[in-house]
Amino acid sequence: MINGEKFMDRPLRWGMIGGGKTSGVGYKHRTGAQRDAANYQLVAGAFDIDEERGRSFGVNLGVTAERCYADYHVMLEEESKREDGIEVVSIALPNGLHYEATKKALEAGLHVICEKPLFFTSEEGEEIKKLAEEKRKIVGVSYGFSGNQMLLQMRDMIAEGAIGEVTMVELQYTHGYGADPEGDTKNPSQQWRVNPKISGDTFVIGDLSTHTIYMSQLILPELKIDQLLCMRQSFIESRKPLEDNAYVLMKYNTGAVGRVWTSAVNCGCVDGHRIRIVGTKASLEWWDAIPYEVSYEIQGEPIQKLIRGSDYLSDACKADERLGVLHVEGLSDAWANVYRKIALAIHAKNNGDEEALAKMVYPDIDAGINGIKWIENCVKSSNQGSVWVDFE
Ligand SMILES: NC(=O)c1ccc[n+]([C@@H]2O[C@H](COP(=O)([O-])OP(=O)(O)OC[C@H]3O[C@@H](n4cnc5c(N)ncnc54)[C@H](O)[C@@H]3O)[C@@H](O)[C@H]2O)c1
Repeated sequence: MINGEKFMDRPLRWGMIGGGKTSGVGYKHRTGAQRDAANYQLVAGAFDIDEERGRSFGVNLGVTAERCYADYHVMLEEESKREDGIEVVSIALPNGLHYEATKKALEAGLHVICEKPLFFTSEEGEEIKKLAEEKRKIVGVSYGFSGNQMLLQMRDMIAEGAIGEVTMVELQYTHGYGADPEGDTKNPSQQWRVNPKISGDTFVIGDLSTHTIYMSQLILPELKIDQLLCMRQSFIESRKPLEDNAYVLMKYNTGAVGRVWTSAVNCGCVDGHRIRIVGTKASLEWWDAIPYEVSYEIQGEPIQKLIRGSDYLSDACKADERLGVLHVEGLSDAWANVYRKIALAIHAKNNGDEEALAKMVYPDIDAGINGIKWIENCVKSSNQGSVWVDFE
């Protein structure tokens, strides 16, 4: 169980790029990083595209005015001159800015936690992986949902054969908040998501399903996608060539098959994030509306609800518990677990403990690169008329 105790001498000096006052995701980073105050201390930031708003926001967060920077390039330069300069930076910028910011931060000698989808191309991903290795730094990806410990329960149960052989993988991440086309011009967070220059070659495939694909890989480490077939469409015409809805079929190396539905136009849908793993004997299902529960459904028997915090859960699942049974945990706790795991990885890297690092399960650069490949292959398949394409 996590109780916030320190495992390092002092918190990592932490900065943010983006994630300002109006940002959709910035607060998730801060609640994630600062839940365990012993791990990260926010000391600097280039929070906003708008200099004044960024500065006053940073000051309101408790960052000194001189360390609230107008431009992240200046922040990296100035911080590297300080004895007490930042050691790790989180990048919560629109997609098209991730690559350059990650590269500059690594070059400035920082560990990086970057938003998804990581970059536009897998070549960029491989280049950054090499650079991070050279610089002996960690690049983590903020797949925030993936810190939910019930996913580890699913992983452990499947590894122990609780559902038999995995046959089907059903993934869904949908919502209806893109159904109003006015958002594309009036909502700044939506505007860039439907602009290929900033969003990349996809909208919902990159924005939503990269999370769920990583979560499925966390649950099913033995399953690799061999081939996929993607059909994507834009029900709001002006978004073309980006999609606001997609269906993807997958064939795995084990003979299992899978399906992903991702959408921003699933009207009325609020909690459309589901993972169902079907086996030859039973199924497991997680749904983000009830994130502390996993449904265990053995064929022919009453359905069992597994509840987080309970003694009967696996050791890995219980190790990531924070509040104990009887209390509700959710997304913020999952983010805190992701940030804690990345802090553990940074600590191991700083100490040269590659053996410990190799055993750690957290969203690392390979998870980010895999997300990019997912996007690239979905685009390739759909652009060729929805044909099967090889994943690797
Ligand atoms: N992990 C998750 O669960 C999750 C959730 C939402 C968004 N995201 C990702 O986070 C990223 C940001 O998404 P968002 O919804 O917060 O976007 P947003 O448009 O709401 O916010 C973007 C923020 O970046 C700032 N910004 C833009 N350019 C900047 C620059 N050059 N320098 C400094 N700041 C700059 C803006 O001022 C704003 O504060 C995207 O990559 C998105 O895919 C991830």
